[in-house]
Amino acid sequence: KTVLVLNGPNLGRLGTREPDVYGAETFEDLVALCRDTGRRLGLHVEVRQTDDEAEMIGWVHEAADEKTPVVLNPAAFTHYSYALRDALAQLTAPLIEVHLSNPAAREEFRHTSVVAAVATGTIAGFGFTSYVLALRAIAELSAETA
Ligand code: DQA
Repeated sequence: KTVLVLNGPNLGRLGTREPDVYGAETFEDLVALCRDTGRRLGLHVEVRQTDDEAEMIGWVHEAADEKTPVVLNPAAFTHYSYALRDALAQLTAPLIEVHLSNPAAREEFRHTSVVAAVATGTIAGFGFTSYVLALRAIAELSAETA
């Protein structure tokens, strides 16, 4: 079973990007962690990152067509992209929204998520572990419906 782990803008710069907020580990470290976690859970995990809203929406359409579960860190798109939200509303398999930081504890503009209402659930504030927990949630949900 394939799971897509999609990452929005600036997440490719993990490690150098605001390490006080997002930690010192790199995006490549995150990819390795997601793959290893998937292997342990019996899921085939494919990790992607883009800074481009159109590319992200294309990946969501692909997931909708193939009924693929998605773990998504929409990054800044979280707070304003109605186009991404409308794409996500077409998904039928589980969608877990993840964040490294806890947006509720940060600036006011991060308190709104325009995608949260179309997600199955949201996991935020646990650093890289947010992704591990999201993949575990997908594995649990797939076991329930198997
Ligand atoms: C983020 C939180 C967002 O507010 C921010 O724009 C990001 C990363 C997180 O993972 O904590 O780019 O999604």
